[in-house]
Amino acid sequence: MNKTTFYAAGGLILLFGALQLVPAEVTNPPVDQEPLWDSVRTAELVKVACYDCHSNEVVVPWYGKVAPVSWLVKHDIDEGRAELNFSQMNRPPEEPDEVGESVLTGEMPPRMYLWMHKAARLTESERKTLAKGLDATLHVGEETLRSGLD
Ligand code: HEC
Repeated sequence: MNKTTFYAAGGLILLFGALQLVPAEVTNPPVDQEPLWDSVRTAELVKVACYDCHSNEVVVPWYGKVAPVSWLVKHDIDEGRAELNFSQMNRPPEEPDEVGESVLTGEMPPRMYLWMHKAARLTESERKTLAKGLDATLHVGEETLRSGLD
């Protein structure tokens, strides 16, 4: 290794270390209220495909805790929870019909997430089952919640 390579490598290592000083820790607040799932199967599929961004039970793998990946992971979780949080159905999604739809169109789960999470790669038939289950669950859930508010 010549001198330039040595300093360049050292610089990169220092930079990488410095990135770690900007924390992006993901926390899991308590679960308030889960939906009344229409079936066990829906709950299973949602947990495997959606919970890492849309719940208060996210599991972040080790590489997701290392900057700069940790910043992206935290950003996804913050944005994801703001749109839809299955642990806070006391604050239901504004457009419940979009939830199942997002699975059918393949918009959700995001492609980048699927690269690293094989278990969340649903088959065509699993997508359909999940979309149907989400529709059923959110409509029932919504009525139940609204009747308490009116
Ligand atoms: C890797 C994190 C991640 C996973 C896993 C994930 N989402 Fe999302 N989701 C997001 C983010 C970030 C947003 C907000 C930004 C956007 O719309 O892309 C979002 C937005 C949404 C929205 C709001 C409307 C929309 O389309 O923007 C819905 C509905 C949704 N997700 C449903 C789901 C469902 C259902 C699953 C499971 C099949 C899922 N998501 C899995 C990160 C995720």
